[in-house]
Amino acid sequence: MWFPPEPEQVRRVRAYVEDCLTRWGLLDRFPVEAVSLVATELFGNALKHGKPDGRPLLVVARWRGETFRVEVDDYNPQGPVLAWATDQDPEGRGLLLVDALCARWGHLPKRPGGKFVYADIPALGPEAER
Ligand SMILES: Nc1ncnc2c1ncn2[C@@H]1O[C@H](COP(=O)(O)OP(=O)(O)OP(=O)(O)O)[C@@H](O)[C@H]1O
Ligand SMILES: [Mg+2]
Repeated sequence: MWFPPEPEQVRRVRAYVEDCLTRWGLLDRFPVEAVSLVATELFGNALKHGKPDGRPLLVVARWRGETFRVEVDDYNPQGPVLAWATDQDPEGRGLLLVDALCARWGHLPKRPGGKFVYADIPALGPEAER
């Protein structure tokens, strides 16, 4: 789904991934809050670091087996890197959260001058399902 590159859209991005989980019958199989948080952070990073120029940003939700993937396009070919924020840094921890919540994440080039960032959220284990 395409979203205008505006902070106000974060609410809609969260609603989109939650709607995918609902429609695909996955609410019991994946951690909804974690999926929403990851989508929020990737979309926020696309706004903050993805060289937005007014064109809409593509957010894709994919599900295969034990993995729910969120992808966000942007217009900066350079990839994200884990920052090591110190006590003095008010920001720079978003990807650390993504890293903690996801089985893997990364980026792949997409069309000249752009990329998409993906993050794979693993399914809940049997204990969490009870
Ligand atoms: N989509 C992106 N494109 C290019 N660089 C990115 C992207 N996302 C993150 N980065 C780089 O990775 C760094 C770490 O990202 P992270 O999300 O942890 O921090 P932040 O976005 O700067 O701060 P916060 O998430 O706390 O608002 C960023 O400072 C930026 O340099
Ligand atoms: Mg961030």
